[in-house]
Amino acid sequence: MKLIIGNWKMNGNMDEKNFLFKDISNTKTKNKVIMCLPFTLLWGDSFGVTLGAQDVSNHENGAYTGDISVSMLKDAGVKYVIVGHSERRTFHNETNETVKEKATLAIKNGIIPVVCIGETMEEKNAGHTTAVIKKMLTESMPDNGEFVVAYEPRWAIGTGVTPTTSEIVSAVKTVFDALPTPMPILYGGSINANNAKEIVSIPYVDGLLVGGASLKSETFLPIIKSIN
Ligand code: PGA
Repeated sequence: MKLIIGNWKMNGNMDEKNFLFKDISNTKTKNKVIMCLPFTLLWGDSFGVTLGAQDVSNHENGAYTGDISVSMLKDAGVKYVIVGHSERRTFHNETNETVKEKATLAIKNGIIPVVCIGETMEEKNAGHTTAVIKKMLTESMPDNGEFVVAYEPRWAIGTGVTPTTSEIVSAVKTVFDALPTPMPILYGGSINANNAKEIVSIPYVDGLLVGGASLKSETFLPIIKSIN
């Protein structure tokens, strides 16, 4: 069984959620589909689709205006939470240390964190991909419990450019070798219906993290169907 995680980022409204979720629930798949939505959409009917969030506070509760705690996510029925997405690391200066705190708190509260890592184009061009991935993963992952790793090269996110098969093999093998016990490893970055099947067939790839193409039935359902 593969994991197909949709990440809506800062897009969508309740009508669009209901529309897509109904379509997902009517699509036969042997894989698991998880939708990570903006906080305001984490309520109402889920039509049997597993709910995820895109971020969580690294604090349990208290005076953190604007933040959302893991117990709030749990209360809303969330089962997975993305932590350390490259956009959080870039636009909110999140460090490996903060990401690890978030992942650890999520696990403590029964929510599975999806820990994101990935190199920049500069790091790739300098030949540092393996070292960067290893460091990000070992510093960001929780010490115990069940989690998911998403390998998302930063230069592949939202660009329409994907790594070669051998680049993905090498990166996910690095992740696999750095994990103390096997955890699902996803690939993310410019996934669409034309490349999903091939990428998910790469050794050590247990699923996909899909951004832009997860927003609409026309682009997301063909991805789900292509990897059945
Ligand atoms: P993308 O985003 O599929 O739009 O490239 C992936 C992600 O940021 O998770």
